[in-house]
Amino acid sequence: MAQKDKDIVLISEDPEFNDRIGAILSKQAGLSVTQCNSSLSGMNGKANEFARSSELIIFKASSDALKEEQALKSLIASGGTARLLAVSDSTVPFGVAHGLLRAGVSEVVPDTIEDAELARVVSRLSMPRRLTLNPQDQREGQVIAISKARGGIGATTLAVNLADQLCSRKKLFGKTENRKVALVDLDLQFGAVAGFLDLQPNNAFYSMARDRIEPDSVFLQQSIETTPSGLAVLTAPAGFMPLNALQPDQVSALIRRLRQNYDFIVIDLPHAMVDWLTPVLETANHVLIVSGTSVPFVQQTRRLIDFFKEQNPSIHVEVIVGQEKKPLIRSRRHIEAAKALETEFRHWLPPDPRAAEIAMDRGCPLSQAASGSALTKEIAQIAADLLKAASETSPTHDARADRPGR
Ligand SMILES: Nc1ncnc2c1ncn2[C@@H]1O[C@H](COP(=O)(O)OP(=O)(O)OP(=O)(O)O)[C@@H](O)[C@H]1O
Ligand SMILES: [Mg+2]
Repeated sequence: MAQKDKDIVLISEDPEFNDRIGAILSKQAGLSVTQCNSSLSGMNGKANEFARSSELIIFKASSDALKEEQALKSLIASGGTARLLAVSDSTVPFGVAHGLLRAGVSEVVPDTIEDAELARVVSRLSMPRRLTLNPQDQREGQVIAISKARGGIGATTLAVNLADQLCSRKKLFGKTENRKVALVDLDLQFGAVAGFLDLQPNNAFYSMARDRIEPDSVFLQQSIETTPSGLAVLTAPAGFMPLNALQPDQVSALIRRLRQNYDFIVIDLPHAMVDWLTPVLETANHVLIVSGTSVPFVQQTRRLIDFFKEQNPSIHVEVIVGQEKKPLIRSRRHIEAAKALETEFRHWLPPDPRAAEIAMDRGCPLSQAASGSALTKEIAQIAADLLKAASETSPTHDARADRPGR
């Protein structure tokens, strides 16, 4: 089926501006451009219709741009999904440009911008926000969030290798069945997933925050990196971004999209409280907290469990003991810790610096770097338990108790 053209609307009273932008847009395939020789306010509500029917509205901002504020506000309040791109001339002070962004404009670029660069901005901002899925394509992926009681305990190691183990399993006669699994590094400031899997960090989350993008299928296609074994990965950005730059609505939309497209979504969480954790926790089927059994760990973990349960009383929280071998006989400390956390410590990730180091050096999962390691096997067992739980709650997750892994 031919793809529908993206609808772009160009609004400006300046014929020179219209000619230049019109020429740039005409060189891009797949765009259908409507030119309006008017100011935003002069559109008399017609702009609101365009906001509902088009992907992108480009308008010229001048020094009195905020006089257009009323038109802009009504445009944004109209409920349309079009993004807004303001092209400002040199007379526009920084404060006015900033005001436009605050009012809801996706991006403000100077009119001195190179044609090629402007074409790139238009292409990025005109990605459709809405995805229509065939009902048969719809999934309801399971969300597994990984948290930790302190840094360095092995949460990312668990996230990466759990996602890897969930990906596929051996079947009879060597045939492998793949599940679609996405691994999302929401540890936006210190995320290390890209390094664990030898991927280039990309700036998808940074652009998502900056352009206020509501993630859709096109955004996912452009942002997801895929490992040789078929794991889909959304990495944390390479540069610094404030943790609260993402909005809860955006994270909610991201998870919704991922659940439609993947069987399992494994999310590496930051060691911080931030408001967009709420949509993660509201949709998460499981939260795994990697922790220890000493008193400070237990106190911290108790706090986390209470917070998670407050956000989603039906969430299934499990404490995974990090970097400790499962004891044959539990000590008094283990018993006390389990009691305080109202858990039974089913899984223990044994210390295995050699396996962890080889996997890190090779930038691949433990299943490839050290398949026989006790650490790899324990993570495979966690994956098996999750698959079993998923198959019990949803028949579409055909996951019998057989162990995953390659
Ligand atoms: N079970 C283990 N045995 C030995 N080393 C491990 C184990 N798990 C993780 N490591 C190593 O410990 C370091 C920290 O692990 P990881 O990044 O998974 O922890 P984290 O809890 O995600 O830390 P951060 O606070 O940086 O996010 C890494 O070098 C990793 O290879
Ligand atoms: Mg980590």
